[in-house]
Amino acid sequence: MQAVEVRTLASLSSRAFDIDLEDEGACSGFLLREKDMTLRAYKNSCPHTGAPLNWMPDQFLTREGLYVQCSIHGALFKTQNGECFAGPCGGKFLKALRFIEQEGMSYIDLRDIEKSPSI
Ligand code: FES
Repeated sequence: MQAVEVRTLASLSSRAFDIDLEDEGACSGFLLREKDMTLRAYKNSCPHTGAPLNWMPDQFLTREGLYVQCSIHGALFKTQNGECFAGPCGGKFLKALRFIEQEGMSYIDLRDIEKSPSI
């Protein structure tokens, strides 16, 4: 598991992280807080082209913070499940990452990441 600090992650905001996989490179991901403080984690890769989603560090959400938006072609994704509902990858999903939130830290589960060479 890889730890990411989330105590200071406010409602309707997001934060990038990189997981060092040593010989296998790195995995870029991000965490977001929904309005009700639910925490979600996704791989930072648009299902359209595989490009990073953010246009600035830690900026993954629309202005209101309600959806994830890809910076390249503007696809919109539901924060709850990563489903694209508008844009060129409609119907596809962001890769959700499993984690445990405990005492202000989020511990990203590496099992999914290590299983898939595409992550
Ligand atoms: S790369 Fe994300 S919508 Fe095209």
